[in-house]
Amino acid sequence: MALYRQGEIRVKGIILMANETARNIGPVIVLGPPGAGKGTQAKRIVDRYGIPQISTGDLLRDNVGRGTKLGLEAKAIMARGELVPDELIYGIVSSRLREADCQRGFVLDGFPRTAAQARWLDAALEKEILDKSQSGKSEKCPPIVIQLLVDYNQLLLRLTGRRSCPTCGRLYNIHFQPPRVDELCDVDGSKLLTRSDDREDVISERLAAYESQTKPVADYYRAQRRLVVVNADRTMDEIAAQIFGVIDRHGQGAGGGNAQLESAS
Ligand code: AP5
Repeated sequence: MALYRQGEIRVKGIILMANETARNIGPVIVLGPPGAGKGTQAKRIVDRYGIPQISTGDLLRDNVGRGTKLGLEAKAIMARGELVPDELIYGIVSSRLREADCQRGFVLDGFPRTAAQARWLDAALEKEILDKSQSGKSEKCPPIVIQLLVDYNQLLLRLTGRRSCPTCGRLYNIHFQPPRVDELCDVDGSKLLTRSDDREDVISERLAAYESQTKPVADYYRAQRRLVVVNADRTMDEIAAQIFGVIDRHGQGAGGGNAQLESAS
Protein backbone atom coordinates (compact mmCIF):
# COMPACT_ATOMS: atom_id res chain seq x y z
CA MET A 1 0.00 0.00 0.00
CA ALA A 2 2.76 2.41 0.99
CA LEU A 3 4.68 1.61 -2.21
CA TYR A 4 1.57 2.12 -4.33
CA ARG A 5 0.96 5.54 -2.77
CA GLN A 6 4.58 6.53 -3.27
CA GLY A 7 4.42 5.58 -6.94
CA GLU A 8 1.17 7.41 -7.44
CA ILE A 9 2.54 10.61 -5.94
CA ARG A 10 5.67 10.31 -8.04
CA VAL A 11 3.65 9.83 -11.23
CA LYS A 12 1.43 12.76 -10.35
CA GLY A 13 4.56 14.82 -9.64
CA ILE A 14 5.96 14.04 -13.07
CA ILE A 15 2.70 14.96 -14.77
CA LEU A 16 2.55 18.21 -12.80
CA MET A 17 6.11 19.15 -13.73
CA ALA A 18 5.48 18.35 -17.39
CA ASN A 19 2.50 20.73 -17.38
CA GLU A 20 4.41 23.47 -15.59
CA THR A 21 7.23 23.39 -18.11
CA ALA A 22 4.97 23.29 -21.17
CA ARG A 23 2.37 26.00 -20.62
CA ASN A 24 2.84 29.71 -21.30
CA ILE A 25 3.67 31.56 -18.10
CA GLY A 26 4.31 35.03 -19.55
CA PRO A 27 6.35 37.72 -17.83
CA VAL A 28 6.80 37.47 -14.06
CA ILE A 29 8.18 40.63 -12.42
CA VAL A 30 9.72 40.29 -8.95
CA LEU A 31 9.97 43.64 -7.15
CA GLY A 32 11.52 44.38 -3.79
CA PRO A 33 14.33 46.22 -2.03
CA PRO A 34 17.96 45.08 -2.15
CA GLY A 35 18.24 41.81 -0.24
CA ALA A 36 14.51 41.05 -0.30
CA GLY A 37 15.18 37.70 -1.98
CA LYS A 38 14.34 38.56 -5.60
CA GLY A 39 17.19 36.48 -6.97
CA THR A 40 16.49 33.61 -4.57
CA GLN A 41 12.81 33.43 -5.53
CA ALA A 42 13.52 34.01 -9.24
CA LYS A 43 15.67 30.85 -9.19
CA ARG A 44 12.82 28.89 -7.57
CA ILE A 45 10.48 30.05 -10.35
CA VAL A 46 13.05 29.04 -12.98
CA ASP A 47 13.31 25.55 -11.47
CA ARG A 48 9.57 25.03 -11.28
CA TYR A 49 8.35 26.55 -14.53
CA GLY A 50 11.39 26.20 -16.80
CA ILE A 51 11.46 29.85 -17.83
CA PRO A 52 14.66 31.95 -17.72
CA GLN A 53 15.66 34.47 -15.06
CA ILE A 54 16.60 37.89 -16.38
CA SER A 55 18.49 39.75 -13.67
CA THR A 56 19.65 43.20 -14.78
CA GLY A 57 22.11 43.20 -11.85
CA ASP A 58 23.67 39.92 -13.10
CA LEU A 59 23.74 41.19 -16.69
CA LEU A 60 25.46 44.39 -15.57
CA ARG A 61 27.97 42.51 -13.37
CA ASP A 62 28.74 40.23 -16.33
CA ASN A 63 29.44 43.31 -18.48
CA VAL A 64 31.62 44.80 -15.74
CA GLY A 65 33.54 41.51 -15.48
CA ARG A 66 34.11 41.36 -19.24
CA GLY A 67 35.09 45.03 -19.40
CA THR A 68 32.56 45.89 -22.13
CA LYS A 69 31.68 49.54 -22.93
CA LEU A 70 28.47 49.15 -20.90
CA GLY A 71 30.39 47.54 -18.05
CA LEU A 72 32.91 50.40 -17.96
CA GLU A 73 30.09 52.95 -17.84
CA ALA A 74 28.14 51.04 -15.16
CA LYS A 75 31.00 49.99 -12.87
CA ALA A 76 31.50 53.19 -10.84
CA ILE A 77 27.74 53.85 -10.63
CA MET A 78 27.07 50.37 -9.23
CA ALA A 79 29.98 50.69 -6.81
CA ARG A 80 28.32 53.81 -5.37
CA GLY A 81 24.98 51.99 -5.01
CA GLU A 82 23.20 54.26 -7.49
CA LEU A 83 20.99 53.20 -10.37
CA VAL A 84 22.51 52.87 -13.83
CA PRO A 85 20.80 55.29 -16.29
CA ASP A 86 17.65 53.89 -17.88
CA GLU A 87 19.01 54.23 -21.43
CA LEU A 88 21.88 51.85 -20.65
CA ILE A 89 19.47 49.27 -19.25
CA TYR A 90 16.97 49.24 -22.15
CA GLY A 91 19.51 47.83 -24.61
CA ILE A 92 20.48 44.81 -22.50
CA VAL A 93 16.89 44.04 -21.54
CA SER A 94 15.46 44.27 -25.04
CA SER A 95 18.14 42.08 -26.57
CA ARG A 96 17.72 39.48 -23.80
CA LEU A 97 13.92 39.45 -24.22
CA ARG A 98 14.32 38.64 -27.91
CA GLU A 99 16.18 35.38 -27.18
CA ALA A 100 14.35 32.17 -28.01
CA ASP A 101 14.18 30.88 -24.43
CA CYS A 102 11.82 33.75 -23.49
CA GLN A 103 8.98 32.48 -25.71
CA ARG A 104 6.97 30.86 -22.85
CA GLY A 105 7.79 33.56 -20.33
CA PHE A 106 10.60 34.90 -18.16
CA VAL A 107 11.27 36.18 -14.64
CA LEU A 108 12.47 39.77 -14.36
CA ASP A 109 14.59 40.29 -11.24
CA GLY A 110 15.73 43.87 -10.61
CA PHE A 111 13.83 45.34 -13.55
CA PRO A 112 11.85 47.60 -13.85
CA ARG A 113 13.44 49.80 -11.21
CA THR A 114 12.09 53.22 -12.13
CA ALA A 115 8.62 54.30 -13.23
CA ALA A 116 10.13 55.15 -16.64
CA GLN A 117 11.49 51.58 -16.94
CA ALA A 118 8.04 50.21 -16.08
CA ARG A 119 6.40 52.30 -18.82
CA TRP A 120 9.14 51.26 -21.25
CA LEU A 121 8.57 47.60 -20.39
CA ASP A 122 4.82 47.84 -20.94
CA ALA A 123 5.42 49.34 -24.38
CA ALA A 124 8.08 46.73 -25.23
CA LEU A 125 5.89 43.82 -24.11
CA GLU A 126 2.94 45.14 -26.07
CA LYS A 127 5.03 45.54 -29.20
CA GLU A 128 7.52 42.70 -29.11
CA ILE A 129 6.34 39.99 -26.79
CA LEU A 130 2.68 39.93 -25.92
CA ASP A 131 1.38 39.96 -29.48
CA LYS A 132 3.76 37.25 -30.53
CA SER A 133 3.41 33.53 -30.03
CA GLN A 134 5.21 30.64 -31.63
CA SER A 135 2.16 29.88 -33.74
CA GLY A 136 2.04 33.45 -35.00
CA LYS A 137 -1.37 34.01 -33.41
CA SER A 138 -2.00 36.90 -31.09
CA GLU A 139 -1.76 35.57 -27.55
CA LYS A 140 -1.68 38.16 -24.77
CA CYS A 141 -0.20 37.12 -21.47
CA PRO A 142 -0.09 40.10 -19.10
CA PRO A 143 2.69 40.33 -16.53
CA ILE A 144 2.40 38.93 -13.02
CA VAL A 145 3.90 41.47 -10.61
CA ILE A 146 5.03 40.27 -7.19
CA GLN A 147 6.39 42.65 -4.56
CA LEU A 148 8.44 41.13 -1.73
CA LEU A 149 8.15 43.02 1.56
CA VAL A 150 10.83 42.53 4.22
CA ASP A 151 11.60 44.21 7.55
CA TYR A 152 14.54 46.68 7.35
CA ASN A 153 16.75 44.92 9.94
CA GLN A 154 16.20 41.60 8.21
CA LEU A 155 17.29 43.19 4.91
CA LEU A 156 20.56 44.32 6.46
CA LEU A 157 21.28 40.79 7.75
CA ARG A 158 20.46 39.29 4.35
CA LEU A 159 22.77 41.71 2.54
CA THR A 160 25.72 41.71 4.93
CA GLY A 161 25.51 37.91 5.27
CA ARG A 162 25.22 37.10 1.56
CA ARG A 163 27.95 35.02 -0.07
CA SER A 164 27.94 33.52 -3.56
CA CYS A 165 29.87 30.85 -5.38
CA PRO A 166 31.85 32.26 -8.35
CA THR A 167 31.73 28.85 -10.06
CA CYS A 168 28.13 27.60 -9.81
CA GLY A 169 26.39 30.82 -8.70
CA ARG A 170 24.80 29.24 -5.63
CA LEU A 171 23.78 31.77 -2.96
CA TYR A 172 24.49 31.40 0.76
CA ASN A 173 23.95 33.52 3.82
CA ILE A 174 26.24 33.24 6.81
CA HIS A 175 23.30 34.03 9.14
CA PHE A 176 20.49 32.00 7.58
CA GLN A 177 21.92 29.50 5.10
CA PRO A 178 25.62 28.95 5.81
CA PRO A 179 27.78 26.58 3.80
CA ARG A 180 28.78 23.31 5.51
CA VAL A 181 32.43 24.48 5.59
CA ASP A 182 33.06 28.18 6.31
CA GLU A 183 33.41 30.29 3.15
CA LEU A 184 33.46 27.25 0.79
CA CYS A 185 30.75 26.19 -1.67
CA ASP A 186 28.96 22.95 -0.74
CA VAL A 187 28.67 21.99 -4.40
CA ASP A 188 32.17 22.54 -5.81
CA GLY A 189 34.36 23.74 -2.91
CA SER A 190 35.07 27.16 -4.49
CA LYS A 191 35.91 30.03 -2.16
CA LEU A 192 32.75 32.07 -1.65
CA LEU A 193 32.66 35.75 -2.61
CA THR A 194 31.07 38.81 -0.99
CA ARG A 195 29.54 41.23 -3.51
CA SER A 196 31.45 44.52 -3.60
CA ASP A 197 28.22 46.53 -3.16
CA ASP A 198 27.28 44.59 0.00
CA ARG A 199 29.42 46.93 2.13
CA GLU A 200 27.38 48.88 4.71
CA ASP A 201 28.03 52.34 3.20
CA VAL A 202 26.95 51.15 -0.27
CA ILE A 203 23.96 49.24 1.13
CA SER A 204 22.54 52.46 2.59
CA GLU A 205 22.85 54.15 -0.83
CA ARG A 206 21.12 51.20 -2.53
CA LEU A 207 18.28 51.30 -0.01
CA ALA A 208 17.93 55.06 -0.51
CA ALA A 209 17.79 54.58 -4.31
CA TYR A 210 15.08 51.96 -3.77
CA GLU A 211 13.01 54.33 -1.59
CA SER A 212 13.17 57.25 -3.98
CA GLN A 213 13.26 55.60 -7.42
CA THR A 214 11.95 52.04 -7.21
CA LYS A 215 9.01 52.32 -4.80
CA PRO A 216 7.04 54.27 -7.44
CA VAL A 217 7.23 51.16 -9.64
CA ALA A 218 4.99 49.34 -7.15
CA ASP A 219 2.57 52.28 -7.26
CA TYR A 220 2.56 52.07 -11.06
CA TYR A 221 1.49 48.39 -11.00
CA ARG A 222 -0.92 48.96 -8.11
CA ALA A 223 -2.70 51.54 -10.25
CA GLN A 224 -2.97 48.87 -12.98
CA ARG A 225 -4.39 46.43 -10.38
CA ARG A 226 -1.57 43.98 -11.07
CA LEU A 227 0.40 44.16 -7.83
CA VAL A 228 0.54 41.13 -5.55
CA VAL A 229 2.27 41.89 -2.24
CA VAL A 230 3.96 38.94 -0.54
CA ASN A 231 5.20 39.01 3.04
CA ALA A 232 8.81 37.87 2.48
CA ASP A 233 9.78 37.87 6.17
CA ARG A 234 9.44 34.09 6.17
CA THR A 235 11.36 31.05 5.02
CA MET A 236 12.36 30.75 1.38
CA ASP A 237 10.08 27.69 0.98
CA GLU A 238 7.03 29.49 2.40
CA ILE A 239 7.56 32.48 0.14
CA ALA A 240 8.10 30.25 -2.90
CA ALA A 241 4.90 28.32 -2.17
CA GLN A 242 2.89 31.55 -2.13
CA ILE A 243 4.49 32.80 -5.33
CA PHE A 244 3.74 29.49 -7.09
CA GLY A 245 0.13 29.85 -5.96
CA VAL A 246 -0.04 33.32 -7.51
CA ILE A 247 1.44 32.10 -10.80
CA ASP A 248 -0.80 29.04 -10.94
CA ARG A 249 -3.95 31.04 -10.25
CA HIS A 250 -2.93 33.53 -12.92
CA GLY A 251 -2.54 30.62 -15.37
CA GLN A 252 -6.06 29.46 -14.53
CA GLY A 253 -7.43 32.75 -15.79
CA ALA A 254 -7.68 34.68 -12.48
CA GLY A 255 -7.79 38.26 -13.65
CA GLY A 256 -5.91 41.29 -12.34
CA GLY A 257 -6.55 42.93 -9.01
CA ASN A 258 -4.11 43.82 -6.27
CA ALA A 259 -3.75 41.30 -3.50
CA GLN A 260 -2.14 41.19 -0.09
CA LEU A 261 -0.91 37.74 0.84
CA GLU A 262 -0.51 37.35 4.55
CA SER A 263 1.93 35.09 6.31
CA ALA A 264 0.77 31.50 6.74
CA SER A 265 1.27 30.99 10.44
P1 AP5 B 1 20.85 43.90 -8.23
O1 AP5 B 1 21.84 42.86 -8.52
O2 AP5 B 1 19.50 43.81 -8.85
O3 AP5 B 1 20.75 44.04 -6.65
P2 AP5 B 1 19.56 44.41 -5.66
O4 AP5 B 1 18.27 44.86 -6.21
O5 AP5 B 1 20.23 45.37 -4.74
O6 AP5 B 1 19.15 43.09 -5.08
P3 AP5 B 1 20.07 42.00 -4.49
O7 AP5 B 1 20.64 41.15 -5.58
O8 AP5 B 1 21.06 42.62 -3.53
O9 AP5 B 1 19.06 41.21 -3.57
P4 AP5 B 1 17.92 40.17 -3.90
O10 AP5 B 1 16.62 40.80 -3.62
O11 AP5 B 1 18.11 39.53 -5.23
O12 AP5 B 1 18.21 39.14 -2.74
P5 AP5 B 1 18.91 37.69 -2.77
O13 AP5 B 1 17.97 36.69 -3.35
O14 AP5 B 1 20.28 37.79 -3.37
O15 AP5 B 1 21.42 45.34 -8.62
C1 AP5 B 1 22.75 45.71 -8.29
C2 AP5 B 1 23.04 47.09 -8.89
O16 AP5 B 1 22.92 47.05 -10.33
C3 AP5 B 1 22.06 48.21 -8.48
O17 AP5 B 1 22.45 48.79 -7.25
C4 AP5 B 1 22.18 49.17 -9.66
O18 AP5 B 1 23.35 49.93 -9.59
C5 AP5 B 1 22.32 48.22 -10.85
N1 AP5 B 1 21.04 47.86 -11.48
C6 AP5 B 1 20.48 46.62 -11.55
N2 AP5 B 1 19.31 46.64 -12.21
C7 AP5 B 1 19.12 47.93 -12.57
C8 AP5 B 1 18.09 48.60 -13.27
N3 AP5 B 1 17.00 47.93 -13.71
N4 AP5 B 1 18.17 49.94 -13.44
C9 AP5 B 1 19.26 50.62 -12.99
N5 AP5 B 1 20.29 50.05 -12.32
C10 AP5 B 1 20.22 48.72 -12.11
O19 AP5 B 1 19.02 37.40 -1.21
C11 AP5 B 1 19.88 38.16 -0.38
C12 AP5 B 1 20.42 37.26 0.75
O20 AP5 B 1 19.35 36.89 1.60
C13 AP5 B 1 21.06 35.96 0.27
O21 AP5 B 1 22.14 35.66 1.10
C14 AP5 B 1 19.94 34.91 0.45
O22 AP5 B 1 20.47 33.63 0.69
C15 AP5 B 1 19.20 35.48 1.67
N6 AP5 B 1 17.77 35.19 1.67
C16 AP5 B 1 16.91 35.29 0.63
N7 AP5 B 1 15.66 34.98 1.01
C17 AP5 B 1 15.73 34.70 2.35
C18 AP5 B 1 14.77 34.30 3.34
N8 AP5 B 1 13.47 34.15 3.05
N9 AP5 B 1 15.19 34.08 4.60
C19 AP5 B 1 16.51 34.23 4.93
N10 AP5 B 1 17.48 34.59 4.03
C20 AP5 B 1 17.09 34.82 2.77
